[in-house]
Amino acid sequence: MRALVVDHSAPNRLALATVPDPEPGPDQVLVRVAAVSLNYGELPTSEGVPAGTIPGWDAAGVVERAAASGRGPKPGDRVVTFAPNAGAGWAELRAVSVDELAVLPDEVSFEQAASLPVAAVTALRALRAANVRPGHRVAVTGASGGVGRFAVQLAHLAGAEVYALVGSPERGEGLVEIGADHVATGADGIDAPVDVVLDNVGGPLLGDILGRTAEHGVVISIGATSGEPTVLAPYQLIAGLVTLIGFRMGAGLGDDLAYVVRLVAEGRLQAPVDWRGSWEKADEAVTALRARRIRGKAVLTVG
Ligand SMILES: NC(=O)c1ccc[n+]([C@@H]2O[C@H](COP(=O)([O-])OP(=O)(O)OC[C@H]3O[C@@H](n4cnc5c(N)ncnc54)[C@H](OP(=O)(O)O)[C@@H]3O)[C@@H](O)[C@H]2O)c1
Repeated sequence: MRALVVDHSAPNRLALATVPDPEPGPDQVLVRVAAVSLNYGELPTSEGVPAGTIPGWDAAGVVERAAASGRGPKPGDRVVTFAPNAGAGWAELRAVSVDELAVLPDEVSFEQAASLPVAAVTALRALRAANVRPGHRVAVTGASGGVGRFAVQLAHLAGAEVYALVGSPERGEGLVEIGADHVATGADGIDAPVDVVLDNVGGPLLGDILGRTAEHGVVISIGATSGEPTVLAPYQLIAGLVTLIGFRMGAGLGDDLAYVVRLVAEGRLQAPVDWRGSWEKADEAVTALRARRIRGKAVLTVG
């Protein structure tokens, strides 16, 4: 089969190559992949990732072979799938656990579905970890990105007042339409203390937002795309009794994937696919993602 593999001599360290087909384990289905999405956190950035590794956390396609255990979907079912670490989803065939997938209704395209696993389920689980309730004021940093655009929508669906923080006004385009009540380029745009922060950016912005977090507020640290350290003012957390939580999405996505797929099918959640194209153009998509030119998700079609 063909796959996008780590190749340190290629642009963005990725190239299409011919590799052996995967051998599914007893509790895995074999999926013929139709579309995959890119996540910031899985792009190879150094020689530390062995050449030949097949990345890919998110992939959607059609079940080609059912699991030997008898669990999970049957051949011909359309599915969206996830696997952690070097997920091996950026390939024509993927062997994947029956616990890390959801069956797709006809209303949800492979491209929409491929955008969901890591970005949407991270946003969903982070909101849950913060116990977001109707009426809460919720700030989302990096709201222009993949996790951010899902977080804005899911916080809005939960009845929150949403502050979407972005790097520039252009990066904020489309956020009001999907549920942001306020779009701002820095913490100054937060005009009343927020109860919950979902932070994708870290760095100085996180420090500024901590200063605008309500007493007993909860800050969920999801990512740190700024790559910069955060400096806290003396007693900053203590004075407001703010809880700062380090978050990891984890595994066992099946039920949560089925939930977000249902929201998309019902038209209540938009899959924010901003870049779509063949995996032959993966280099273009990765460059755009790294350059912060994607508003939401980049999706590659496979084959
Ligand atoms: N903890 C977990 O389990 C988990 C799960 C998923 C993702 N993550 C992390 O969450 C973060 C967001 O992921 P994502 O997939 O949503 O990424 P993404 O689509 O690339 O979005 C990241 C956003 O961060 C902002 N940003 C600010 N400074 C940046 C910089 N120097 N370089 C790049 N972006 C910068 C960008 O917004 P502006 O251009 O508007 O500033 C961009 O839209 C990443 O750090 C990722 O690794 C963590």
